[in-house]
Amino acid sequence: MPGLTIGDPIPDLEVETTQGTIKLHRFCADAWTILFSHPGDFTPVCTTELGKMAQYSKEFYQRGVKLLGLSCDDIQSHNDWTKDIEAYTPGAKVNFPIIADSKRQIIKQLNMVDPDEKDSTGNLPSRALHIIGPDLKIKLSLLYPATTGRNMDEVLRVIESLQKVSKFKVATPVNWKPGEPVVIAPEVTDEQAKQMFPQGYETVNLPSKKHYMRLTKV
Ligand code: BEZ
Repeated sequence: MPGLTIGDPIPDLEVETTQGTIKLHRFCADAWTILFSHPGDFTPVCTTELGKMAQYSKEFYQRGVKLLGLSCDDIQSHNDWTKDIEAYTPGAKVNFPIIADSKRQIIKQLNMVDPDEKDSTGNLPSRALHIIGPDLKIKLSLLYPATTGRNMDEVLRVIESLQKVSKFKVATPVNWKPGEPVVIAPEVTDEQAKQMFPQGYETVNLPSKKHYMRLTKV
């Protein structure tokens, strides 16, 4: 799908939110930000997603991550809906801003449109989620249709991965969880790896005899 994607800088939009007007670059600068959209207020899947995000917000803040939601209704509607969200999910406090996009302009600029979901005003937002790095570029995007709710454990997991690989020349393998071994990036030579990972690493013996599967802990 054309539009904003991994590696792109986010546009410096001025947006109206439940916590006032925000300029995206100022909000996202020098932090990690999860910018996530919802098809609409007072809808069941969105209510569960926002609730889970609010319940996990402390986990994100502890990792230096800001949260910024978006739904295509107005601020009054967002504020009324927040009461339902907090009532539905125990312990949820929606303490992060939610962007209002009644005119459906912002979702176009942020590649958050669901082409298959429409109401009388036009296309609804998809369940898009961009993780924006401190350099204001998109590091990871998830794009789900309105009918499939996201997994916030996975969002937390990929934050851990992104932050890890931003600090070390490593990558995280399939189903990786924090605390498990990571793999050393392919471009790192064995000589460099010895310097970079003084704690050591294991090279897995594979039929090809190529030494690309190198595991370490960081
Ligand atoms: C929901 O959040 O439940 C939803 C919203 C739009 C379309 C389908 C489901």
